Amino acid sequence: MRKILRIVFIILIVGFVVLQFFQPEKNQGQITDNDILRQHQVPENIAVILKESCFDCHSNNTRYPFYDRVAPVSWMVDDHIQDGKHELNFSEWGEMDIFDKITTLDEIARETKRKAMPLKSYKLMHPKARLSDEQIAAIEKWTTELGEELLKNSISE
Ligand code: HEC
Repeated sequence: MRKILRIVFIILIVGFVVLQFFQPEKNQGQITDNDILRQHQVPENIAVILKESCFDCHSNNTRYPFYDRVAPVSWMVDDHIQDGKHELNFSEWGEMDIFDKITTLDEIARETKRKAMPLKSYKLMHPKARLSDEQIAAIEKWTTELGEELLKNSISE
């Protein structure tokens, strides 16, 4: 019995090691002028929130702590990144049309207000990404102001 257990254990360890050779591609691209932080004069407190709490899943640049590089966690993380970027990619903000931008700003306010973003599993591993009530209020103010500014510019164009 002990021998079987030992063999099972060795197989598991070897499987885990082999798994490490199969990793998703890293989400670390170039920052271009389409990045939201280059497109707009984003207030410092908002830029900090976006970088700390959103960019890991909603931009072309993820910071990977060591545990995010270990398979199979790395695959779950990559799944969140792909889904997150598909919904909203702050690195490609400049490529969206104005109406997409305005609705997205609205969604950002809504998702943060109902505490759906950042994702719960992410907050568990990144306590610094949690948003305080003041930060949530600041996001709402910023999204409203930027939305109005975009709308005004589109009318005057
Ligand atoms: C751990 C990864 C992760 C982080 C961090 C994260 N998101 Fe998301 N986000 C996702 C995923 C995955 C989706 C798509 C699935 C869903 O809606 O749950 C999404 C969807 C969204 C959507 C679209 C919602 C909809 O239904 O239309 C918005 C807006 C959004 N996120 C904003 C944010 C903002 C703002 C932050 C930072 C405060 C943030 N997210 C942080 C992963 C993340």
